[in-house]
Amino acid sequence: MGGSVFGPVDIVPAGGDYSKSRAPRSGTAPSAPCRRVRGAPLSLSLMDPTMSDALSPNIAYLKPSETVAISAETKRRRAAGEDIVDMSVGEPDFNTPRAVAEAAVKAIEKGMTRYPPNIGIAELRAALARDVSLMSRGVAINPDQIVISNGSKQSIFNACFTLFGPKDKVLIPAPAWVSYPQIVSLCRAEPVLVHGDPEWGLKVSVKELEQKTDKLVKGLILCSPCNPTGATYSATEIRAIAEWAKKHDVWIIADEIYRRIYYGDGPAPSFMDLPEELRQKVVLIYGASKAYAMTGWRIGAAYAPMPIAKAMAAFQSHTTTGANHPAQWAAATAFSDEKVEQEVTKMVAAFRRRRDRVVERFRAEAPGVEFVEPTGAFYFFFRVDGTTPERNYTGSAFCDAAMAAGVALVPGAAFGDDRWVRMSYAVSDKELETACDRLLALIRKLGAQAPAASGAR
Ligand SMILES: Cc1ncc(COP(=O)(O)O)c(C=O)c1O
Repeated sequence: MGGSVFGPVDIVPAGGDYSKSRAPRSGTAPSAPCRRVRGAPLSLSLMDPTMSDALSPNIAYLKPSETVAISAETKRRRAAGEDIVDMSVGEPDFNTPRAVAEAAVKAIEKGMTRYPPNIGIAELRAALARDVSLMSRGVAINPDQIVISNGSKQSIFNACFTLFGPKDKVLIPAPAWVSYPQIVSLCRAEPVLVHGDPEWGLKVSVKELEQKTDKLVKGLILCSPCNPTGATYSATEIRAIAEWAKKHDVWIIADEIYRRIYYGDGPAPSFMDLPEELRQKVVLIYGASKAYAMTGWRIGAAYAPMPIAKAMAAFQSHTTTGANHPAQWAAATAFSDEKVEQEVTKMVAAFRRRRDRVVERFRAEAPGVEFVEPTGAFYFFFRVDGTTPERNYTGSAFCDAAMAAGVALVPGAAFGDDRWVRMSYAVSDKELETACDRLLALIRKLGAQAPAASGAR
């Protein structure tokens, strides 16, 4: 993968450096045991080698976010006049709903600019509690167990730092969002990737989790709807995983940041839909960024059992003090205002239309290319190793070629499997068509069709 504009990549299945080896044929799960995400210390990618002695072991395995790096590189190229459709970035192309922005202005005018309560303003926690309860058939949600943070990324960090430490293992279904392994490593726990089944939208089942379970496993981070695949765990799958976790006394960090962006009926199935006895060791992660087009406002939340919520709040009291105060008022409106709800419904309809279009075009114009049919979020995850006659093309090489053809994408290496590539379809319909034209032309040019797509649904 050296030589890619995306830089070195360290998350690969054991024995699975797909840039060098002949990749398995379609339908073959990357079921080789995953090695730890930790490899050679990555600090050299962060700073001048002459300063490497200065680095604390705290960041020995730290690596900058690839998605953020690609997005920055794309912005740089676009500013220099290059014609690139940016499909790398995981954020809606819509503006924040007006009522939300107005609530922030009003809060500022009313002087809500001082330190907020460390745990978050009561109005926002109440609005969130109501919203989550409504989505999960009236389940009782205690607002005092909600901790508001500067984005759900911080909520995930708070939860992991509070729950996991040295000697703990944390299972992470892969392909996985880039930050999970990094966050777990920052907590000095061990991230263990568990590869999902291509025949099942790259989701993991209890069978795969059992294979990685031992006495050291203390947690699981599960993302549904999933970044990067767009797959969604069904109610039955969620229940089975919750029962597995209960049996092994494992904490679940349920990252449901994309719950509202779901193409089935209502919001996506959730761990909050489960009976109380299966939720005792669940930390729910939620936030305003994705469904409310509020990525820049930095508001996220964790809902946890009371002692964990208290510990997270205490931890946060020494790190950020609390989340951006006016943004909390904006988010309180986002989670409670009927007009905003209608805008969210429209945005989700637009994502669904774009999803339909990408799927339709790939099916019709690249029938051999395997992909996960997205049921939520706004990502399209497709497999590229079979797009060249040698059938060993990497996601990184494909993304370099796509960038040269005018489309920015994220290689699967960033998520743990470099046979795949992630496209974010949170772009305008026009840009989507242009990007599809360019990518499908590239796939034709690369000159081969992948094997009959048994896993494509
Ligand atoms: C799966 C997942 N979780 C959490 C986040 C963090 O979102 P934020 O910190 O903006 O709330 C993201 C953002 O890309 C994400 O994709």
